[in-house]
Amino acid sequence: SAGIGITGSGSAAPAGRLTNQDLARMVETSDDWITTRTGIQQRCLATPKESLLTLGTEASQKALAMAQVQPQELDLVILATSTPDDLFGSAVSIQRAIGATQAVAFDLTAACSGFVFGLVNAAQFIRTGAYRKVLLIGADILSRWVDWSDRSTCILFGDGAGAVVIEATAPDRDRLLGFELCSDGSLNHTLTLNHQGEEKNLTEEVTVGQGKYQPITMKGKEVYRFAVEKVPEVILKALFHAELTAEQVDWLLLHQANQRIMDAVAQRLNLPPERVISNLASYGNTSAASIPLALDEAQHAGKLKSGDIIAMSGFGAGLTWGSAIVQW
Ligand code: ACO
Repeated sequence: SAGIGITGSGSAAPAGRLTNQDLARMVETSDDWITTRTGIQQRCLATPKESLLTLGTEASQKALAMAQVQPQELDLVILATSTPDDLFGSAVSIQRAIGATQAVAFDLTAACSGFVFGLVNAAQFIRTGAYRKVLLIGADILSRWVDWSDRSTCILFGDGAGAVVIEATAPDRDRLLGFELCSDGSLNHTLTLNHQGEEKNLTEEVTVGQGKYQPITMKGKEVYRFAVEKVPEVILKALFHAELTAEQVDWLLLHQANQRIMDAVAQRLNLPPERVISNLASYGNTSAASIPLALDEAQHAGKLKSGDIIAMSGFGAGLTWGSAIVQW
């Protein structure tokens, strides 16, 4: 079957900035508390002019330019997001904006694991020979869904978008070496963005324009413990499928949720801090965007050398988690 290659990456950060000092004026918190508990110093937030569409489109166009792929050549567009502009799906809006006229486009929801789930999804279409060129976007605007008076969650999240172009390659140049995906619905209550689910009589007139979703709720400690236990485990499983060991990993690229989680996972895998890709300090937790955003930055910084082994892992609401081992 065909091999998988990542041939381009792009990202887009919104124009708004919110520092820890800004947050300390909004809720009872401090720069010191946020920095020591999370490693986050500021986050980028979407301004009223920006949307999932504008950020996703910008990231996509950059990824296509790097891959030297024309939008009309794309067979498939997958948008990993939990915060579409339109609950029916926003992938189609990006498809239209970039002119991917020959592609089929759909959204994929797996919270902060969305990018890794999307990558594995895209790979299946390529391996079977159904499609050859796929655009995968990870984008989220969680700032719209955060309770800005809840200091335990509002300090964590930022907005952003990242994208990659994934193409069929010769089987002996396959760059997706292994993966493992997991979910556990019994832990769903630990991280939610729930519809309020009011009982409505079907004949009752539906009121438009009222908030029908509860903001993000999170049991931070439980999510933290879950991540520190499950992420190393899933990476080791994916490495096993790739017939690799942790020592062979050049870059650990985790969902950017908390620096303490990244440090703990690196320690469990016995990887030194200099092999951990982190841009959390400047962006906060951008959910499905965090891995492609950090990947694109590392790529532009010249960190990634051809042949490097990247162990990616996404984890978050669902709960969902997964790992993909990619050779650059
Ligand atoms: N500023 C100051 N104090 C705070 C703040 C704040 N922003 N937030 C909470 N506190 C207080 C709490 O009220 C508590 O006080 P108490 O001891 O008097 O009750 C104290 O600080 C400790 O709170 P904890 O919640 O126990 O703090 P913890 O060390 O667990 O850190 C954190 C909280 C940073 C949220 C951590 O649990 C974490 O990172 N969890 C993982 C979260 C995560 O990554 N979620 C995203 C997953 S991805 C996705 O899909 C969205």
